Amino acid sequence: MTGSPDKKSEVRPATGKLGILTPGLGAVATTFMAGVESVRRGLSKPIGSLTQMATIRLGKRTENRSPLIKDFVPLADLQDIVFGAWDPIPDDAYTAAKKAGVLEDRDLEPIKDFLSAIKPMPAAFENHFVTRIHGTNVKKGKNKRDIAEQIRADIRRFKEENGLDRVVIVWCASTEIYIKPGPQHATIEAFEKAMEANDDQIAPSMLYAYAAIMENVPFCNGAPNLSVDIPALVQCAIDRGVPISGKDFKTGQTWMKTVIAPGLKARMLGLEGWYSTNILGNRDGEVLDDPASFKTKEESKLSVLHTILQPDKYPDLYDGFSHVVRINYYPPRGDNKEGWDNIDIVGWMGYPMQIKVNFLCRDSILAAPIVLDLALFSDFAHRAGMKGIQEWLSFYYKSPMTAPGLQPEHDLFIQQTKLKNTLRHLMGEEQITHLGLEYYAS
Ligand SMILES: NC(=O)c1ccc[n+]([C@@H]2O[C@H](COP(=O)([O-])OP(=O)(O)OC[C@H]3O[C@@H](n4cnc5c(N)ncnc54)[C@H](O)[C@@H]3O)[C@@H](O)[C@H]2O)c1
Repeated sequence: MTGSPDKKSEVRPATGKLGILTPGLGAVATTFMAGVESVRRGLSKPIGSLTQMATIRLGKRTENRSPLIKDFVPLADLQDIVFGAWDPIPDDAYTAAKKAGVLEDRDLEPIKDFLSAIKPMPAAFENHFVTRIHGTNVKKGKNKRDIAEQIRADIRRFKEENGLDRVVIVWCASTEIYIKPGPQHATIEAFEKAMEANDDQIAPSMLYAYAAIMENVPFCNGAPNLSVDIPALVQCAIDRGVPISGKDFKTGQTWMKTVIAPGLKARMLGLEGWYSTNILGNRDGEVLDDPASFKTKEESKLSVLHTILQPDKYPDLYDGFSHVVRINYYPPRGDNKEGWDNIDIVGWMGYPMQIKVNFLCRDSILAAPIVLDLALFSDFAHRAGMKGIQEWLSFYYKSPMTAPGLQPEHDLFIQQTKLKNTLRHLMGEEQITHLGLEYYAS
C-alpha cells in the first residue's frame, strides 16, 4: 500500500487545547499527570513515550529522513493539555499521588500546586463491579441512563470551563468484575433499554464509554473489563465517527511475553510451559485480589501466548504447552511489582532449556507514557477522520480490540510496524516493506 499525498491535507490541525479525562485518579492517572507537568516545567524527560521521543523513518534508507514522530504528525502539544478525572474517592491528584506511593516527594512537591488543583468529579460507580473500593464521591440518578447523561454533562462542562477544542478519555480506573457480552450489549437500542432498566450487565465503565461516544470523544480502555468492547458501542462509535481502542495497558510481564515469544517462534524453538507469577502491593493489586476482578485480568493475560505461537499451525512446537499466570497481593511492595517468569523451551533434537526472567518493574511508571500516547494518537486519529476500533494502537494493549472474527496481533514488533505504517499512511508517505532489493540493483 502506498501513501497518498492528499491524505496529509485531510488531517485537521491540532489547534486549541486538548482535554484528557480519566475515569480513575489512582496510581496510573496521577503518575501520568504528574509526569506531563514535570516535562512541561522542564523537570523531567518523557521517557517511554513514542509520541515524545520516537523517530519514524520515511522513504529509503539512503534518504536519511527520520524525523521525530511529533514533528511528522500533527499531535497536540503537551503545553495545550488540560487534565480532569472522575473517582469515587474524593482525593485531589496530589493526595491521591501521595497515597499511591509511586512518585517521591522530590518529584511531587515542585508540582503540588498543579496536582492539588485536579479534583475528581463524582464517579459512576457501583460496588458490585469493584468490591474492594469504598468511595463517597459517587453519582446518584434514577437509573443507569441518567448516570450516563450526567457523565455527558460533565464532559460538556469540562470542555466549556476550560475553553477546550477537543477531549479524549482514557480509562484508568479499577478493573471491574468479569462480564461476558450478552444480548444487552448487542445493539445500541438494547443497550439503552438495559441502562434504563438498571440491568446488572451494564457496568459503570460502559456508561463512560457510551457518554464519550455520544459526546464525540475518543475513548481508550486501559483495563481488561469490556467497557467499550461490546458490539453496541463499537457500532455506535463507527456511526458517530469516534475512534475507540482497548483493552488493558500492556506494561510489565505481558509486554515481556510479546517480546520473547515472537523471538522463540521466529527461530522455531518449542515451548513446553510458561509460568508467570507476580507480587504487587498497590490498590490495583488489592482489587485484583478479588477473584472476580482477577478473572477479567487473567483472561486478558492468557490469550497472548496462544495467539503469538499458533499451536494449531505448529503442533510439534507448541501443542499443549502449559501457561499459568498468578498475581499475589503483597502490600510491602506497593507499586513496585516483582514478576518471575520461568520459561521451559525445547531445542534441536528435543533438548530442554530454561529462561528465567526476574522483572523488578514499576507498574505505573510503565503505564504513564502509554496513557499519554494513547490520548495523543487517538486525538490525532479523530482529526484524521478515523473511526471505530483503532487496531493500529494494539501496540499499547494486552488484549487488542479487533474487527469481529479477526485474531488480534500480539507480536510487539508487528504492532510497532502497524503503528508506524498507519502514521505514514495517514500522512501520505510510502509504506516501508523492508524489502530493500533496490539497494542491490546495480
Ligand atoms: N499500572 C499498570 O501497569 C497497568 C497495566 C495494565 C492495566 N492497568 C489497569 O489500570 C487501572 C488503574 O491502575 P492503578 O494502578 O492506577 O489502580 P488504582 O487502584 O491506583 O487506581 C484506580 C482508581 O480508580 C478508581 N475507580 C474505581 N472504579 C471507578 C469508577 N467506576 N469510576 C471512576 N473511578 C473509579 C479507584 O477509586 C481508584 O482511585 C487498573 O484497572 C489496572 O488494572 C494498569
